[in-house]
Amino acid sequence: MIARRDLAVRVAARTDLSPTCFRIALATPEPLTATPGQFGMVACGDGFDPLLRRAFSIAGVARRAGITSVELMVKEVGRGSALLRRACVGTELRLLGPLGNGFTLSPGDGGPLALVAGGIGLPPLLFAAEVLAGQGVAFDLYLGAATASELLDVERCRAATEAAGGKLVCATDDGSAGEAGVITGALERRLTAGRRYARALACGPDPMLRALARLARAHGLDAELSLEEPMGCGVGVCLGCVVELADGRMVPSCKEGPVFPAARLAARWSQ
Ligand SMILES: Cc1cc2nc3c(=O)[nH]c(=O)nc-3n(C[C@H](O)[C@H](O)[C@H](O)COP(=O)(O)OP(=O)(O)OC[C@H]3O[C@@H](n4cnc5c(N)ncnc54)[C@H](O)[C@@H]3O)c2cc1C
Ligand code: FES
Repeated sequence: MIARRDLAVRVAARTDLSPTCFRIALATPEPLTATPGQFGMVACGDGFDPLLRRAFSIAGVARRAGITSVELMVKEVGRGSALLRRACVGTELRLLGPLGNGFTLSPGDGGPLALVAGGIGLPPLLFAAEVLAGQGVAFDLYLGAATASELLDVERCRAATEAAGGKLVCATDDGSAGEAGVITGALERRLTAGRRYARALACGPDPMLRALARLARAHGLDAELSLEEPMGCGVGVCLGCVVELADGRMVPSCKEGPVFPAARLAARWSQ
């Protein structure tokens, strides 16, 4: 278990990735390690506006010239993410993390891994792709978005996937890039054609995760879903993020998750 810390971090870089999404690198005052699937709670402004920290998946941790930076990919949807988008290089923020568990990255017997990302669900899977490529674990990466301009970081996804000898499959809902339709459709076509995977790892909007859980059940495929339940504290105190498990227990997603085996989740996740 990697110990969590509440760190004063500085914005080291910020770049746009799409009309709605951007990447932000936060330099930490001390070395930090994290595992793909873990997240941080970021105080997006100074003072009490907004009052609550916002949860963001860790998209990577880099150490260069003695400085550690934590990378996030953010979609601007409200006050906190808008403040982050406007944050200048050098701005001081607070980051509590790393929090939560992570994906199972070990290779399996049934074939390579399938990494499935929908829209701004990419960050934990890009982190996983780069770690897996470094470990020589085979995987294919399925990257979906509503439209071509919202397919994030395609070249970096391609580089990591090809370094592991895998294939990057893109799909857009409107057919403007890659295959037309939802990304789970692209995975389903390959499963139906006989492609086998040891495990699927996924993050994205709830309908995508539910479709993936159904697909996994139909094809006897293990799947791990990274849920993005709205979070208040990130550390198991407020119970704002509880999810129901198949055994009826309600558990805080920030502590027992955010990554859950699909088979452990209540039936609503596969309906
Ligand atoms: C574990 C975890 C990891 C996440 N990783 C990322 C990430 O890597 N990149 C990223 O951009 N976002 C991520 N999110 C979602 C992110 O936390 C919210 O988008 C963020 O809190 C919005 O803050 P805001 O102040 O900009 O908007 P708010 O004013 O808080 O919300 C704006 C709108 O977004 C809705 N919203 C808020 N949180 C969520 C949520 N979790 N799911 C769906 N809708 C929500 C609100 O209901 C509201 O309609 C993650 C969430 C969780 C729980
Ligand atoms: S966010 Fe507070 S208990 Fe999970």
